[in-house]
Amino acid sequence: MKTVIYDLETQYDEGLDAAAAEIARGGLVVFPTETVYGIGANAADEAAVKRIFEVKGRPQDNPLIVHICDISQAFTAARSISPMAERLMRAFWPGPFTAVLKKSEAVSDTVSAGLDTVGVRLPSNAYARELIKRSGCMIAAPSANISGRPSPTRIAHAVEDMYGRVPVILDGGDALVGVESTVCDLTGDVPVVLRPGGITAEMIEKEAGAVKVARAVLNGVSDGERAASPGMKYKHYSPDANVTIVEADGNEPLAKALAMLYDKKTEAGGKTLVLCLDETAALLGKRDCACLGKNAEEAARRIFDELRRADEDGYDEVLFASTGLEGMGLAVMNRMIRAAGFNVIKA
Ligand code: TXA
Ligand code: MG
Repeated sequence: MKTVIYDLETQYDEGLDAAAAEIARGGLVVFPTETVYGIGANAADEAAVKRIFEVKGRPQDNPLIVHICDISQAFTAARSISPMAERLMRAFWPGPFTAVLKKSEAVSDTVSAGLDTVGVRLPSNAYARELIKRSGCMIAAPSANISGRPSPTRIAHAVEDMYGRVPVILDGGDALVGVESTVCDLTGDVPVVLRPGGITAEMIEKEAGAVKVARAVLNGVSDGERAASPGMKYKHYSPDANVTIVEADGNEPLAKALAMLYDKKTEAGGKTLVLCLDETAALLGKRDCACLGKNAEEAARRIFDELRRADEDGYDEVLFASTGLEGMGLAVMNRMIRAAGFNVIKA
C-alpha cells in the first residue's frame, strides 16, 4: 500500500483533510497524540476497526480506546456516567486519561472486544483533536506499533512499524508524555487504575478522595485469571535484548549493583547497556549507559525510544535501574516489568 506522510507543521490543512477523508472512507490513519502515536479508524465502521487488529497483529480480545474531541461525545459512547466519573473526566480532559465506562449501543463489540465497558479518551494533542473534529466521528485507536513492540513516541518509530500498511501518516513531532494514557475504571464507587500512565494515581486520589491500583499493574496475570484490562496479560513493549530490572535502596547501592551485573554480563560476552537516571549514570564510569533524564517523568518520555535504540545498536542485555513506583514511576515500571518479562533483581 502507498503511504503518504504529512508534516503537520508545514502541511497542516493538507494533512488533516487527507487524514479525515481517509477515516471517513473507512481507511486507517496514523496520528500523533500527547502520549504515543495512534492508529485510528472510524469507531462506528466495523470493517475499518477490524482492519486495525489485522494491521497491528493484535489479539481480538484486547479492546480499543475510543478517542473524542468534545466531552459531550462521552455521553454518546457511555450508557451511564457517575458524578465521580464525570468529575475525573472534567479534571483530566483533555489529557492522557482514559475513562472506562459502561458502554452504550453506539459502541460495537469489535471495539470493546466483547466487554460491556468502553475506554474513552479526549486527548490534549491539538492535532489529534482537530483530526477527530474534521473526521466527524469518534476514532477508535490503539498505539501505532506492531503488537508486542514498544509504543511509538517519535515519527520515526511510527513510520518504521506502519509504513506501507496505512495510506496516511501524520507527523506531529515527538510525544510529550511518552507513555500511554492512564486507563481508569470509573464504573464503581472507587476509581481503579488498570494501566498507569500520564495521569498519576496520586493525581486521581487527590481528585476522587480514593484510588485503587489493579494488581495486574505490577504483577503477571495467570492463565486462569481474567485481566481487568485485557492488554495487561500480553507480553508487551519487548525489545529483542534480554531486559533485567535492578532495584536497590538508594542511588549508590543501585549504581554498585548495576556495575557488578554489567561487568559480569560483559565478561560473559553479552553486549550490555544500562538504562538509568542521570544521577546513577554519573556513578557508572565508562560503561555503556543511556541516560533517561532527571526523574521518572523524563524517563517516561524517553523509555520507548531507548528500548528501540538498544535493539538497533545490537545490545544483547539491557539493565534497567528501577525508577521507584511514585508518580510517573508506576507507569514506567509497569512498562519495564513487562519488557523484562518480570525479571527483577533486588540488590
Ligand atoms: O495513550 C493511549 O492510550 C494511546 C493513544 C493512541 O491514545 N492508546 C493506547 O491504546 O495505548 P492501546 O490499544 O495500545 O492500549 C489500550 C489499553 C489496553 O491495555 C486495553 O486492554 C485497555 O487499554 N482497554 C481498552 N478498553 C478497555 C476497557 N473497556 N476495559 C479495560 N481496559 C481497556
Ligand atoms: Mg498499545
